[in-house]
Amino acid sequence: MGAAGKKRETWSGSFGFILAAVGSAVGLGNVWKFPYITGEHGGGAFVLVYLVCIALVGLPLLFAEMTLGRLSKKEPVGAFSSLASAARGGKWWGFFGWMSIVTAVLLLSFYSVVGGWTLGYLVKAVSGAFSPESAANSGEAFGEFIADPYQTLAFHTIFMGACIGVVIGGVSGGIERAAKVLMPIFAVLLLTLLGYSLTTDGAGQALNFMFYPDFSKLSAGAILEAVGHSFFTLSLGMGVMIVYGSYLKKESSIFKSGMMIALLDTAIALIAGVTIFGIVFSAGQEPGTGPGLVFVTLPSLFASLPMGSLWAALFFLLLGFAALTSGISILEVAVAYFVDERGIDRKKATLFFGGTIFAIGLLSVMSTNILADFKIPVPGKGPLTIFDTLDYFISNWALVLNGLGVAIYAGWAVDAKQLWGELKDDGLGRTGFAVWIFLMRFVAPVAIILILLHTLEWI
Ligand code: PFF
Ligand code: NA
Repeated sequence: MGAAGKKRETWSGSFGFILAAVGSAVGLGNVWKFPYITGEHGGGAFVLVYLVCIALVGLPLLFAEMTLGRLSKKEPVGAFSSLASAARGGKWWGFFGWMSIVTAVLLLSFYSVVGGWTLGYLVKAVSGAFSPESAANSGEAFGEFIADPYQTLAFHTIFMGACIGVVIGGVSGGIERAAKVLMPIFAVLLLTLLGYSLTTDGAGQALNFMFYPDFSKLSAGAILEAVGHSFFTLSLGMGVMIVYGSYLKKESSIFKSGMMIALLDTAIALIAGVTIFGIVFSAGQEPGTGPGLVFVTLPSLFASLPMGSLWAALFFLLLGFAALTSGISILEVAVAYFVDERGIDRKKATLFFGGTIFAIGLLSVMSTNILADFKIPVPGKGPLTIFDTLDYFISNWALVLNGLGVAIYAGWAVDAKQLWGELKDDGLGRTGFAVWIFLMRFVAPVAIILILLHTLEWI
């Protein structure tokens, strides 16, 4: 099944692509990470900065990645090394493609561990662990769960195994089919939980917390985190949208599907935030409790509900599915390189990369138990576990630097005429195109560079 001579795979159509891309975008970033970082950074002002980042940097970069993919019909290494003339860097841009692959491997290694936690909670729910008596000590229960190396290892193994299984199935047969089934169910369940949360007496406070900006709570660190998260949540800076765009047929509009992806991803993050904070406040808890938020506060709610175990099982099942549709997109980045550029069989490439990622993930598995006391002194952050170190460098640095690469490549290195050729029938029009190029050339790079300099304390 080498690349040579064989027709490259594609999505079945726009709808399949949108679902798969939304499946990639919507994941732990929306339901687990966004609420907890919003909680840590004090709510409204952070949310506002985040929305600005999505609109001015995230969305334009999303178009850029999709366009680079569809134009080149290649995975990130190929897309980055084939579109610029030699005078404008030529093949050297391939560096960013390689960076995407390395980042993908490292990101999935710890994403899978958290994906595993959701499966662990699913099993807990099915076995009836969420009883009214357990409501009060959901925090301890989470602590005990992640402190158990065997359970976390087992669920990391299952999660990576599932990603590998789907990616072996290929583009439309595996990835698209999984997303088509899983994403709609996820949406219905999330809305049901939102409906419930809005009836609790914490709803008003939650809306106020999320949408009333108090700028005194905004730090430079919070802004960096908002930019980083806008990349993370849209699956940017890692080549995913380049790869997914490369399987897109010419008839599908990048402009319309990109808008749809960003809108859905943002809506789901906001809904998850309101839902979770409504529950947090109605239980009189604090919003800034960190990564344990969904694994601690929601279980305490489920435990006190009629049929709580059923709710909990559904919620963690679907969170696990959302994580899975993101996990497969990350694995696909690495696999696509070997399938496309090296002509290696999809199955072999998937097993090889999946296995490597699984092995690296063991370090993150152990970060909450055996290696919990092993801390890396991270400049500006203090001592962090391996898991937290990876998360910090990838979310706040690697994705953002790679995004800078995408912006400069699309804005300056690739010929704008070529991009216009690819986008002219896409519905964004000449003005839209000019605005996009402007954002790519100036706004995105300047924003990213300022933020990086600030983090380095150079300005
Ligand atoms: N967008 C995913 C989420 O919000 O959970 C995470 C992710 C997937 C990040 C794919 C990056 C990526 F390339
Ligand atoms: Na997301």
